[in-house]
Amino acid sequence: MKEKLEKLEAEALQTFESAQDMQALDDARVKYLGRKGELKKLQASIKDMSVEEKKEFGMLFNPFKKKIEGAFKAVQVNLQASTKPVKEYKFDITRPGVAFDRGYLHPLTKTMRDLIEIFRSMGFKVVDGPEIEDEFHNFDALNIPEGHLARDPEDNFNLDNGMLLRSQTSTVQIRVMEKEKPPIRVIGPGRVYRPDTVDATHHFMFHQVEGLVVDKGITFMDMKTVLDEFLHSYYAGIDFEWRLRPHFFPFTEPSAEVDVRLKGSYSWLEMLGCGMVDPNVLRTVGIDPEVYSGFAFGIGADRLTMIRHKITDIRHFFENDLRFTSQF
Ligand code: DAH
Repeated sequence: MKEKLEKLEAEALQTFESAQDMQALDDARVKYLGRKGELKKLQASIKDMSVEEKKEFGMLFNPFKKKIEGAFKAVQVNLQASTKPVKEYKFDITRPGVAFDRGYLHPLTKTMRDLIEIFRSMGFKVVDGPEIEDEFHNFDALNIPEGHLARDPEDNFNLDNGMLLRSQTSTVQIRVMEKEKPPIRVIGPGRVYRPDTVDATHHFMFHQVEGLVVDKGITFMDMKTVLDEFLHSYYAGIDFEWRLRPHFFPFTEPSAEVDVRLKGSYSWLEMLGCGMVDPNVLRTVGIDPEVYSGFAFGIGADRLTMIRHKITDIRHFFENDLRFTSQF
């Protein structure tokens, strides 16, 4: 039975494939798949079969029929394609093309990607931390004592459960050092939250990129070199200058702020905080400050972007007006 079907199948396929035009193919179809075709004859012969044969036939027939029908369709499609007359298509190559809208990245997304790229090229690993933090990571471990101004409930989004929305990405420094021992070289990009009154330069949510390097023999000069490299990469092609200005942060000693100004412009704009990691911070996470030293920095990513693109109002970033976001 099996051989019989296989033989018929081979024959049918051969006949379909040798058809040169639609008429020949249709004749072949009638011969095998038609109402009085070979397949129907086979089905009719079932009444003369033994029980065993019927069983076998029942199993083999459907797949067999499908194969033959499939082969027919395939040849038919091919023949149709090759015999269809090609419509002559006149087209005017001088006509202007139709422009279509492309998607684009939000300017802040671009900045974040640029920064990640720049710091990766300097060997930094990208890390993440939670936006809902505890007081330990947001304050205590960063050497910010009880009663410090930065802990004022007015200045933080405190949650009912004793947690808060992180007010700085410096929390990520602690989370990294709790888990990893030096050498450490990481950046932590992310959102931070402060209940500031919203105006052209303040928002209740903005973006920072935290940086942390801890190893033996790390100096202030290393920090300056990394910051210089980063600023010149990000502002490549823009005529600017930058300066380090002494400042204070509880978690760094000494601390500084970086100001940037476009050449020819009068005013400096504060861009990031930085400094040598305070020995108290290292001790809190079990790193010996007698052996290791490090530097840290926190870049205001929104500010950075605003200067590069001469954006005068931070609120533009968050209103998602396409007239703004599509410009970059
Ligand atoms: N966390 C600081 C802020 O939000 C910025 C900062 C300053 C980060 C000094 C640092 C640093 O890592 O060393 O104002």
